[in-house]
Amino acid sequence: MNNFKAIILAAGRGTRMKSEIPKVLHKVCGKAILEYVLDVTKALRSLATYVVVGHGYKKVMDSVGEGVIFVQQDKLLGTADAVNRCFSHLKDYRGTILVLCGDTPLLSKDIVAALLKQHLRSKASASVLTANIGNPQGYGRIVRDEKGGFSAIREQKDASIEEAKIKEINVGVYCFNSKDLFGILKKVKLNPGKKEFYLTDVIELLLADGKKVTTLTTRDETVAFGINTREDLACAQAIIRQRLLSKHMLSGVTVVDPQTTFIEAGVSIGRDTIIHPMTTIHTDVRIGKNCSIGPMARIRPGTRISDGVEIGNFAEVSRSSLGCGVFQKHFSFLGDATVGRGANIGAGVVTANFDGVNKNKTFIGRQAFIGSDAILVAPNKVGAGAMIGAGSVLPKGRNIPAGMVAVGIPARVIKKISNLSS
Ligand code: UD1
Ligand code: MG
Repeated sequence: MNNFKAIILAAGRGTRMKSEIPKVLHKVCGKAILEYVLDVTKALRSLATYVVVGHGYKKVMDSVGEGVIFVQQDKLLGTADAVNRCFSHLKDYRGTILVLCGDTPLLSKDIVAALLKQHLRSKASASVLTANIGNPQGYGRIVRDEKGGFSAIREQKDASIEEAKIKEINVGVYCFNSKDLFGILKKVKLNPGKKEFYLTDVIELLLADGKKVTTLTTRDETVAFGINTREDLACAQAIIRQRLLSKHMLSGVTVVDPQTTFIEAGVSIGRDTIIHPMTTIHTDVRIGKNCSIGPMARIRPGTRISDGVEIGNFAEVSRSSLGCGVFQKHFSFLGDATVGRGANIGAGVVTANFDGVNKNKTFIGRQAFIGSDAILVAPNKVGAGAMIGAGSVLPKGRNIPAGMVAVGIPARVIKKISNLSS
C-alpha cells in the first residue's frame, strides 16, 4: 500500500498535559507518542509524510521523524488550518491524502490500511474512521440522518444534548481526495466558540457540494484513544505494555509475572529466555536465547546480551555488551562495559563508569572472574581469564593482563593463573 501521502497533525499545545515537553514527545513504553503514529505511515509505505509542528517545534523536529517533512504551523488555528499548511507541498499532487493525529499511539496499521482500501474502492471524496465507544466524552460525534447516512461530525462543544448522547465518534483518521480536500478547506469557517478552523467541518461542506463521503467503523475502540492528559498517558501505557508482553510471550519468551514486568518498545528477546518478576527492560535492548533475567533486574538502553546469560536480582546493565554465558547474578552494576563470554561478575561488582565529566569504558575479557564487591574504575581492562579479588579496587587506567590474579586497594597483580582454558 503506497499510493497515498500522509499528514500527521502534531502542532497542538497539549495544554492538559501541564508540561514543558510537547505532547507528542511524551513517551509510552519508552517511545514518543508521535513515533507510534509514524510507525503506521512507515508500515503502509506512504509516498511522503508531512508532520505539522507548532508548539515546541524545535524539540519535535530534533527528536523524531527521519524521512519526514516538517511543516510549520505558526499560529495554532485548528486542525483544518494545520492541514492547509501542507498545501504548498501538495498542490500538484493528485491522489489520496491520509490525515492522522499525532496524539493517538494505539492506532493500528491494519485499520488504517482498511480505511485506505475502502476509500480507494469507493472513489469517495473523503472517508472517516469511526468507533462506538462507551464514553464519547471529548470526541467529535458522528451525526447520521434517519437512514443512517453520514451527515456531519459535531464537536463536543457544539453538540446539542441529543448529539452529545451519540456513542459513535470520530477517531481522527481520514482519507481525502487531494483535489477535493484543498478545494473545500478554503470554505471552512472559524468556529466562533473555539476560534479554530475545524477539519471536521469539511465533511458537511463536501456533502453539501454533492461529494461522496464514507465511514468505516472499527470494533477496536482503543485505536481512537487520544492522549490529552497524564492519565490518558498511563492508560495507553498499560495497553501497549500488555501488547508488547504478549508479543514476546508468543515468540517464545517466558514472562513469569506479566503484572510486574515492564518491557519497553524496541526490545528483542530470544526464545526460551525467562524474564523473572519485577524486571524492567528499557528500549534499545537485545537479549539472546536461553537467558535468565531477574527477578528485580534493570536492563537499560544500548545493552546487548548474548545467548545463555544469567542476570540476577538487583543487577543493572547499561549500554553494555555481554558475551555468551556471562554470569551476573547478584546486585551489581555494569555500565559502558564489554564483557567477554563466560565471564563471572561477582555479587556487588561495580563498573564506576562516570568520573563526573565523562562516561568511560570497561573491558572484561572472556572467562575473567571479578570477585564480589570489586570496583573497576573505568577506563580499564581486565584480560581474558584474569581474576580480580573480592573487595579490590582497580584504579582508573589500570589494566590487568590476561591470566593474572590481582587483589587489593589499589589492585595489584600477585600471580599468574596456569589453567586458563580457551
Ligand atoms: C479532534 C477532532 C475530533 C476527534 C478527535 C480524535 C477536530 C476539530 N476534532 O479533537 O473530532 O474526535 O480529534 O482524537 O479536528 N493540532 C494541530 N494544529 C492545531 C490544532 C491541533 O496540529 O491548530 C493537532 C494536535 O496536535 C493533535 C491533533 O491535531 O495531534 C488533534 O487536535 P486536538 O486538539 O487533540 O483535537 P481533539 O480535541 O482531540
Ligand atoms: Mg486530541
